[in-house]
Amino acid sequence: MNQLQLNLKDAQSFVKGEDLSRFENQTYKTLTELEEKSKDVEASVGWLNLPRQAQGEDLRQIQETARMFAEKLDAVLVIGIGGSYLGTKAVIEALSPYFPTTNDRPRILFAGFNIDEDYHFELKKALEDREYGIIVISKSGTTTEPGIAFRIFKEHLEKKAGAQEAARRIIAITDREKGALRKLAGEKGYQTYSIPDDVGGRYSVLTPVGLVPIAMAGYDIEQLLAGAESMRRQTTSETNPKDNPAARYAVMRNALYTQGKAIEILGIYQARLYYLMEWWKQLFGESEGKDHKGIFPAIAQFTTDLHSMGQYIQEGRRILFETILSIEEPYHHLSVPQATDDTDNLNYLAGKRLYQVNAMAEAGTRLAHTDGEVPNITISIPTVNEYHLGQVIYFFEKACAISGMMLGVEPFNQPGVEAYKSNMFALLGKPGYEAEGERLWEKINRDKT
Ligand code: PA5
Repeated sequence: MNQLQLNLKDAQSFVKGEDLSRFENQTYKTLTELEEKSKDVEASVGWLNLPRQAQGEDLRQIQETARMFAEKLDAVLVIGIGGSYLGTKAVIEALSPYFPTTNDRPRILFAGFNIDEDYHFELKKALEDREYGIIVISKSGTTTEPGIAFRIFKEHLEKKAGAQEAARRIIAITDREKGALRKLAGEKGYQTYSIPDDVGGRYSVLTPVGLVPIAMAGYDIEQLLAGAESMRRQTTSETNPKDNPAARYAVMRNALYTQGKAIEILGIYQARLYYLMEWWKQLFGESEGKDHKGIFPAIAQFTTDLHSMGQYIQEGRRILFETILSIEEPYHHLSVPQATDDTDNLNYLAGKRLYQVNAMAEAGTRLAHTDGEVPNITISIPTVNEYHLGQVIYFFEKACAISGMMLGVEPFNQPGVEAYKSNMFALLGKPGYEAEGERLWEKINRDKT
């Protein structure tokens, strides 16, 4: 099976040899430290060994649940936010047809990732005539956004299908014992799956968090894990660092950052990878953006964004570098037709596959951007399937951990996320936040005058 390839040659000339060597020399130490941490539950590095530990029996149980849900339901609503939904959405969107024509598997819909009233209202209407189930995912079991969505759709489903049938159609994926969701699931008798204690949200797509809904959508979770396992084997402390793509990517990112390249744009040329970029953005943003440090992760969908962001990338501040996630072969064949009149002057493309035109756009853009002093990294996979997505996921998780550790931050926590939450709770009058609420309202009213 062909593997993920990393190409750093269009970034090499933008970094100093001494910076590369400095970070390269940290690779072995960083990897052994990471492997050591994975033995400590408190360190949240359990994701490192997930592909190796995936149990046949557990997977079969997930597949059986997925089969049973698929038999009786035409939609499944996945409720979660951040790491509790982005990996799932990334994999399902990457593998799904753009315009589904069959309904042999349930449609996977998402909620709980915002507090948009119209979104939830319209989703409720859309689910009115559907036989649907819910997978509610929250490690803490206390996150406000999925909590509100679950309250709304639990009530809706109970009214529609009856309380007993609703309980049979709800799966809760949460902490083994803590949190409101675990308690509710126990009281209502929902089927549950646990998120391992030592796996944080954004590193959890290869746990039941991703595996249950991905199986429900009809995709092969064993292949997903097999791809991840192949990448795990390629990226351990025992691998020669020169053959370890995750370490090489992490080293190059840090060397570029040292040269003032503070923004990384992850770019794609195939729209089906859009949510993989969103997942990547969260993974790197939450893992590295700390202590006033870290590369800012931005995303761009090409060629679309060449007509919006292209100008800045080519000629704006030289603080950017690009990483392109490239697919060598699309699923389908479609060529540009020959036209008898050629008024649009496109006959020079006649007979060429769109994929070839897209590949030349990609190559031309890489040349233009590197000429414009934007270093380019390319990560390519032969095609989009479960195996290669598993490789990509594990590759980025490992690279992110190494990169964050080389940067000198703790990649497995996210203390900064609490600031907006406590302000929101105070402004909404959550019990326990009254004094802070008064202070914030006073500040808001003072700022108005
Ligand atoms: O990476 C993380 O830990 C976060 O993005 C969480 O996944 C997100 O905040 C959702 O948390 P929870 O699953 O507890 O609802």
